[in-house]
Amino acid sequence: MTKPSILFVCLGNICRSPLAEAALRRRAAEADLDIEIDSVGTADYHVGRAPDPRAIAEAKRQGIDIGGYRGRQLAREDFARFDHILVMDEDNLADVRAMAPADSSAKIALLLDVVPGTAGRSVADPYHGSEADFAGTWKEVDAAAEALIAVLISERQG
Ligand code: 4NP
Repeated sequence: MTKPSILFVCLGNICRSPLAEAALRRRAAEADLDIEIDSVGTADYHVGRAPDPRAIAEAKRQGIDIGGYRGRQLAREDFARFDHILVMDEDNLADVRAMAPADSSAKIALLLDVVPGTAGRSVADPYHGSEADFAGTWKEVDAAAEALIAVLISERQG
């Protein structure tokens, strides 16, 4: 059985998707699950850059160092490399679907679709927000990471 692979997507790859990556990396380690995990932006604004300092600070509050993460832009190869491509909002969803090769088998969905009771909702962009908004982003992406672990365990058993 090949290991599951999950790609998180937001606009800039400096706020939401790096936090989602950090949350799932920790929960996968806690559950002793071997998962390929990465995050990207649909835009190229922050390629090669570290996450937003407010995202780094929020991760640090959670005991996680994401200062070494670097921005990357979504590439066509990602559709073959990842089984699950999970996006933060409807704009990301439209951009990812527009770029998907016709033969892509990657499952593309809103991240919050995996959390019971929040299907169809977006993870709000905290970029123009406050520190509290980043704390809210963490809560959302970590709840999704927890739900994803349950999905992956049931897929492994199925
Ligand atoms: P992210 O947030 O998509 O969660 O990383 C943003 C980061 C940068 C910009 C917008 C949103 N920007 O316009 O540069």
